[in-house]
Amino acid sequence: VSLRHFNTFGLESRAQFFEEVKSIGELTDIIKNPVWKEMPKFILGGGSNVLFTQDINALVIKMAIKGIELLKEDQDFVWLHVGAGERWHDFVMYCVEHDYAGVENLSLIPGTIGAAPMQNIGAYGVEIKDVVETVEAISVESAEIRTFSKEECLFGYRESIFKHALKGKLIITGVLFRLNKKAVYHVEYGDIQKTLTEMNVESPSIKAISEAVIRIRESKLPDPAKIGNAGSFFKNPEISSEQFDKLKSDFPTVPGYPTIPGFVKVPAGWLIEQAGWKGYRDGEIGVHARQALVLVNYGGGSGAEIRALSEKIQKSVKEKFGVSLSAEVNFI
Ligand code: EPU
Repeated sequence: VSLRHFNTFGLESRAQFFEEVKSIGELTDIIKNPVWKEMPKFILGGGSNVLFTQDINALVIKMAIKGIELLKEDQDFVWLHVGAGERWHDFVMYCVEHDYAGVENLSLIPGTIGAAPMQNIGAYGVEIKDVVETVEAISVESAEIRTFSKEECLFGYRESIFKHALKGKLIITGVLFRLNKKAVYHVEYGDIQKTLTEMNVESPSIKAISEAVIRIRESKLPDPAKIGNAGSFFKNPEISSEQFDKLKSDFPTVPGYPTIPGFVKVPAGWLIEQAGWKGYRDGEIGVHARQALVLVNYGGGSGAEIRALSEKIQKSVKEKFGVSLSAEVNFI
């Protein structure tokens, strides 16, 4: 089976076996089948954070468990249970329509609900850890169903326990979110303020913020339906304050955002742009012209070519700034 339409880079890669799973029951049956234990497997969500560098000699499970369900509500909050196979942005639009606050800043992020907790997706001052109540998953060994509290998920910047200690051991089947009925808006980001002003919005609303975020993302980020990409290819590196001060004395315009005491986050997009890569193109692959953190496949590129380009970028950023970039995208 070709996975070309199952990854946002639009890369050709063939899965040896492919199974679309629509319910926990189906998944349990597969896991309990004796053949399963012997088989290499790979779980695929929206394919928006993967780089296929070769064919996949495994059983590829495409998560397609659907459903958005209101479990309970009180004066202040609603609790929504969402199937892992729902598209993230469809869920955001559902919340915006119902006036449930908390995910409007995360509009238009590609991918699925099940993939979102893996790397604690975030944008414009909000991360999903702010709205997750629990994450449900099934053990790939025993088919036991487990529920993780937000704390147990060990969320960090693009990090969670599912990427580390529990990597490969679980399949996320659903997420329980707690959204606010009384909105608290996050409009600190300059881009959001500027866009709301352009939209003539005087006091923000859930809908207006969502619209502003959509405008910003559409203006900077390539639409994966037209140009293959996986959003930010690298994480923004966190460096020590001393290293940042030194960098600043050599490159006075370098932006930096303090995170935990003693550390500063530097935008990888700036480093890559300053190293001369913004808008770079080599045949069918390249670096997006409006956001240097995004690598693109114009059509016929391969995962191996994109990986090679990403290594060249890492090397040149390291040479120029002494900063190591690590990939946000998972290489398969
Ligand atoms: N910048 C440049 N040149 C560029 C791109 C960025 O100089 O080509 C500098 C600018 O100084 C700009 C700063 O980087 O002000 C920040 O850029 P931007 O607001 O576009 O955000 P980012 O740090 O590049 C992160 C997330 C995005 C998220 C945005 C908005 C990561 C790895 N990426 O990007 O998430 O949408 O902030 O909050 O943290 C993703 O993870 O796939 C993703 C798109």
